[in-house]
Amino acid sequence: MQGPNSLHTTLFLFIAFFLLGYSSSLKFCLEQVKGLPFNNYTWLTTHNSFARTGSNSGTGSSLLAPTNQEDSITDQLKNGVRGLMLDLYDFNNDIWLCHSFNGQCFNVTAFQPAINVLKEIQVFLEGNPTEIVTIFIEDYVSSSLGLSRVFNASGLTPYLFPLSRMPTNGQDWPTVDDMAQKNQRLVVFTSKSSKESSEGIAYEWNYVVENQYGNGGMKGSACPSRSESSGMSTSSRSLVLMNYFPTNPNTSEACVDNSADLISMMRTCYSASGNRWPNFIAVDFYKRSDGGGAAEAVDQANGQLTCGCGNIAYCKANATFGTCDVPVLSPPPPSQLSPTETREGPVNGSPFTRPCRSCLFFVTLLTLLLTRL
Ligand SMILES: *[C@@H]1O[C@H](CO)[C@@H](O)[C@H](O)[C@H]1NC(C)=O
Ligand SMILES: *[C@@H]1O[C@H](CO)[C@@H](O)[C@H](O)[C@H]1NC(C)=O
Ligand SMILES: *[C@@H]1O[C@H](CO)[C@@H](O)[C@H](O)[C@H]1NC(C)=O
Ligand SMILES: *[C@@H]1O[C@H](CO)[C@@H](O)[C@H](O)[C@H]1NC(C)=O
Ligand SMILES: *[C@@H]1O[C@H](CO)[C@@H](O)[C@H](O)[C@H]1NC(C)=O
Repeated sequence: MQGPNSLHTTLFLFIAFFLLGYSSSLKFCLEQVKGLPFNNYTWLTTHNSFARTGSNSGTGSSLLAPTNQEDSITDQLKNGVRGLMLDLYDFNNDIWLCHSFNGQCFNVTAFQPAINVLKEIQVFLEGNPTEIVTIFIEDYVSSSLGLSRVFNASGLTPYLFPLSRMPTNGQDWPTVDDMAQKNQRLVVFTSKSSKESSEGIAYEWNYVVENQYGNGGMKGSACPSRSESSGMSTSSRSLVLMNYFPTNPNTSEACVDNSADLISMMRTCYSASGNRWPNFIAVDFYKRSDGGGAAEAVDQANGQLTCGCGNIAYCKANATFGTCDVPVLSPPPPSQLSPTETREGPVNGSPFTRPCRSCLFFVTLLTLLLTRL
């Protein structure tokens, strides 16, 4: 681990380089790579998005559950997060966000009623008419039509991307423009297969391959699929999700995990997935890193996916795939300074809001820096 002084120096350097690159990155992010199929983008995803440090349980009890993120769903969405992982349970005659022992939610592990968070997502979608959000439900709800009821009550039902339009044999998804035009901007996956026929909610692993989560997914040389998923290279699943977080969430470890290691694993998973870059990159404490962090990984994957360049910042308007505009003065953020950096790759949580998100990251970093000095 770095000492505080080198950390500060690193941050200062990063911010300085960031400012140099910022004005040039602004234009292309908004224009260059619009309108591709949904599966041609990478989306920044938070693991246990709801498990916020410092929360109290909505039951009034103190919380004994571990936490994985540090800001609200609203703030995550503002910062460019577009994939949310939510654990839903039947609890107190309602649906709650919770952790469990044996699939059972308790007061001390219950965060809050799901409708609160779903309403935050509704407000975001309503206020941002071209943005697309994906929810991955770890589903412990067995009450009849429980998910439909809470989605209806939250006002999210009109935004749902219909099951009937999800490709099941490896085809491209509709374009993001089409999804926006039809206002089908909420993609929802459940971990319970029965929900497809009972409620029309997509069973995740009919559409997505996903690598092992927790410590088992952090062994550098391999990217095995989690047990529920088809193998990572299964081309009949159009979407690839990469998990990269330890079994026990740990803020200081996240700084390391969400940096060069994350990008290195992304390359490993690219190969394991039949040369496919991840569409979702899921991490703990998404704002923590030693530099560009998970957002940098997303920008690299988005460059590869959308224009065949090493970063979304290098995409050129209307250019042939693989024709890149790599700035001469473009020192990589510290997280990228790895001797094995040879391939180009793309990344970006939301290509449409990237400059805003980058700016927010910058402000966050600066705030962190100032409060630590
Ligand atoms: C979108 O992704 C598919 C599958 O990875 C790929 O075959 C296609 O070339 C990509 N399209 C564009 C426009 O990048
Ligand atoms: C759980 O919290 C509820 C209030 O939401 C309370 O009525 C109940 O007694 C609590 N149960 C336990 C076991 O503490
Ligand atoms: C949810 O709303 C739809 C209409 O938007 C309705 O058809 C459906 O019956 C509702 N489901 C439940 C469980 O209330
Ligand atoms: C968190 O990670 C740090 C750095 O790897 C380690 O020293 C520490 O023991 C970990 N804390 C817990 C509670 O696991
Ligand atoms: C790219 O092509 C579109 C439509 O074909 C056009 O409207 C736009 O001006 C072009 N952009 C640049 C930078 O050439």
